[in-house]
Amino acid sequence: MVSKLRLKDISFMVIMALLVWPSCLKTCHARKGKQNWRPSKEAPFRKETAAGNGRGVSTLIGGNYITPQKDGGNSAIFNVLNYGAKGDGHVDDTKAFEAAWAAACKVQASTIVVPSGSVFLVKPISFSGPNCQTDIIFQLDGKIIAPSSSGAWGSGPLQWIEFSKLQRITVKGKGVIDGQGSVWWNDSPTYNPSDDNIETDATKMPGTKPTALRFYGSTGVTVTGITIQNSPQTHLKFDDCKDVQVSSIGVSSPGDSPNTDGIHLQNSQDVTIFSSNLACGDDCVSIQTGCSNVYIHNVNCGPGHGISIGGLGKDNTKACVSNVTVRDIKVQNTLTGVRIKTWQGGSGSVQNVMFSNIQVSEVKTAIMIDQFYCNGGNSCANKTSAVAVSGINYMNIQGTYTEQPVHFACSDSLPCTGLTLNTIQLKYVEEGNHPRDPFCWDAYGELKTSTVPQIDCLKTGKPSGGGTNKYSNTDSC
Ligand SMILES: *[C@@H]1O[C@H](CO)[C@@H](O)[C@H](O)[C@H]1NC(C)=O
Ligand SMILES: *[C@@H]1O[C@H](CO)[C@@H](O)[C@H](O)[C@H]1NC(C)=O
Repeated sequence: MVSKLRLKDISFMVIMALLVWPSCLKTCHARKGKQNWRPSKEAPFRKETAAGNGRGVSTLIGGNYITPQKDGGNSAIFNVLNYGAKGDGHVDDTKAFEAAWAAACKVQASTIVVPSGSVFLVKPISFSGPNCQTDIIFQLDGKIIAPSSSGAWGSGPLQWIEFSKLQRITVKGKGVIDGQGSVWWNDSPTYNPSDDNIETDATKMPGTKPTALRFYGSTGVTVTGITIQNSPQTHLKFDDCKDVQVSSIGVSSPGDSPNTDGIHLQNSQDVTIFSSNLACGDDCVSIQTGCSNVYIHNVNCGPGHGISIGGLGKDNTKACVSNVTVRDIKVQNTLTGVRIKTWQGGSGSVQNVMFSNIQVSEVKTAIMIDQFYCNGGNSCANKTSAVAVSGINYMNIQGTYTEQPVHFACSDSLPCTGLTLNTIQLKYVEEGNHPRDPFCWDAYGELKTSTVPQIDCLKTGKPSGGGTNKYSNTDSC
């Protein structure tokens, strides 16, 4: 009975296959390479497949068997376990990741899978184009850990995991990227590879601390769901990227880990960051030169140094940042809430910035513009040139601070202009101490409402020279 049925089944399928063959050869060839390939609705085998006890029917397309998936996807899945990864947290899985990538890179809309339940030890690695196909998904559900021995790091790469020169690349999943950064954070001297006595220092980590996850020179980048923790330095960096979307990610490092930015943006445009929790030792989000059209919303930040634009203009460089919106943010236990920082001697501009609906909680300084930024620099003499700061709007900034509510320190030669403050309510929380008063230096702007505490140090009108003078270089941005 059973074997009779099977025989019937098989002969039926053979007949159907023969019937379908000629038409499929034509339509399926035409569809090859298209995303989300589906069997044509009219194809007679489709109904049979649906009723076929869940068995997929493989179809020969251009020399490859393509099995239609439940979701209609064109299955091109490259699981690192199938490329020799052990996933035991001890064996070096770098080669397996490289091999899986080499395969995935060749297939449009492919998925490289790092499965859950495993821990993969991976050395510095680059997933790079430009000769890869588009729309690749890096499905991260397991955990990737960085080596913590100095030997694995060579002369000190800028980053641990890099995606570069790709078009529409997605990293998603519930997985974790763990930089095991604590070995880099302590103050013991790190070795310089050019030192003569390199052998005696072989146990030390390289002087350059790597970024955990970096996207470089890519367009259409999506990062969602994953957690990045304990980075030696910045957790997630985008430079020279366009159309970036970051959502539902976690960044997690101790508040005293040095230089561990959460998300670091440089030379990147059209960036949206939302629904994420960023806790680290430095800026939750750091927006550097060359960034425009940046939208950050519904983010929790802290511990860390808050949301920062800059430091810009270091070593007399030109910096340009414009059109940044930061809204619906909770900031707790940070150095600053929202901050713009520029070095003396720079040029360029920061323009058109909106900070709105910012809830601060026990931050040291809630609102800051510092045009005298000098982070450990020893030659921070005042100079006439400065990065111009204008059109900075603060709306509905509320909560508590532990030192100073507002600090606007603007350049003598190029004052800040167009600052607006609307609905500012900040309370001091530090028992037995006195808060510092709001501070303004060469800061031009207006209060749209009364504020708590009262801020009466803003200058009204326009600075002599109208805010633009021979030191301003904003035209070149
Ligand atoms: C400013 O950036 C937003 C994205 O955050 C964008 O939608 C908008 O078009 C930009 N405005 C200008 C004038 O470029
Ligand atoms: C730079 O200028 C500011 C504002 O005039 C002043 O408070 C500060 O002391 C100066 N710094 C140095 C190093 O001269």
